[in-house]
Amino acid sequence: MPVETKTAMSRTDTIATVLLRHYDVHARTLPWRLPPGSSERPNPYRVWLSEIMLQQTTVTAVIPYYEKFTARWPNVKALAEASDADVMAAWAGLGYYARARNLLACARVVAREHGGVFPDSEAALLTLPGVGAYTAAAIAAIAFGRRTVVVDANVERVVSRLFAIETPLPASRPDIRQKADLITPDQRAGDFAQAMMDLGAGTCTVRNPQCLLCPLRGHCEAAQTNRAEDFPVKAPKKDKPHRHGIVWWLERSDGHVWIERRDDKRMLGGMAGLPGTQWDKRGNEAEGAPPMTGDWVALNSPVEHVFTHFRLTLTVERLRAVKEADPEGNGQWWPLARIGKAGLPTLYAKVVKAVMQDRDD
Ligand code: ADE
Ligand code: SF4
Repeated sequence: MPVETKTAMSRTDTIATVLLRHYDVHARTLPWRLPPGSSERPNPYRVWLSEIMLQQTTVTAVIPYYEKFTARWPNVKALAEASDADVMAAWAGLGYYARARNLLACARVVAREHGGVFPDSEAALLTLPGVGAYTAAAIAAIAFGRRTVVVDANVERVVSRLFAIETPLPASRPDIRQKADLITPDQRAGDFAQAMMDLGAGTCTVRNPQCLLCPLRGHCEAAQTNRAEDFPVKAPKKDKPHRHGIVWWLERSDGHVWIERRDDKRMLGGMAGLPGTQWDKRGNEAEGAPPMTGDWVALNSPVEHVFTHFRLTLTVERLRAVKEADPEGNGQWWPLARIGKAGLPTLYAKVVKAVMQDRDD
């Protein structure tokens, strides 16, 4: 049953008013934010950078990367002039590497086609590389004060609870969007969006939501019936497919390992990597030849990694290069003592760890 309010204000208006008043006092202090209700607007470059980094990544994980990027590339022109390899290496560890390639592509479009100035409407932002519906709405609201409807996973959860939406995700998306639109205020849409994100991150969490401490509990249908954790209802998930591949650890007696730069069109494209079979191509996971012939020896424990669309088990095979002969492929010898600086994404960092562990055993 819908919760009715007794004031003249509609329930949906009240939600925004109550939430913004709460945000004025409790907003998280984050490096890309201005204090709530600021008369100034935050720098669009910084808002854009933070929103790209925050896609599928937690605030805690993002902060050090955000600080590093803004110190090194303080504006969009500086980033547009950076080399692909420097940006990819700086992104290493943050995951979802297509974001880093799109980040550079977007910076270059803004620098060259928009004179280094970010467009200020949702529609124009949407044309930029790597900027989807959520990100365009978030930047337009936060950086430019536009009234947009900002829906990310946090907002989906909060809205589906506020309105006790029984339809499972993803079919409920249009309804969630319409309800989010209904509660978005005409003023301060950027603060409102970030207040919803803070609520989703701190109070209205996936597990154990703190309804007793929530400013919206009086307006929340799920809380009224103690059913917060029942929402959002989700369609049953399919198990991820499982793939198997091989990665080749080729080490020279003087403490260098053979690393490659991955082809731009492959998964983890443009990143540093280790040679291996084509584990990223469905059906071809076992294809490929080692960079050198020899008696490759497999480690006892494989490396496990989970990507968005599949789970990967990589067998690590090792060989000591005895000759000075150069291996096959597009790579270089990298000193093991500085392997942490090679810009290896997490999958390969796990391989390094497995090899080091194997030595200690
Ligand atoms: N997640 C995505 N965008 C965010 C923001 N601006 N503040 C906090 N969390 C976020
Ligand atoms: Fe979420 Fe509970 Fe607040 Fe409703 S009352 S918005 S379920 S934390």
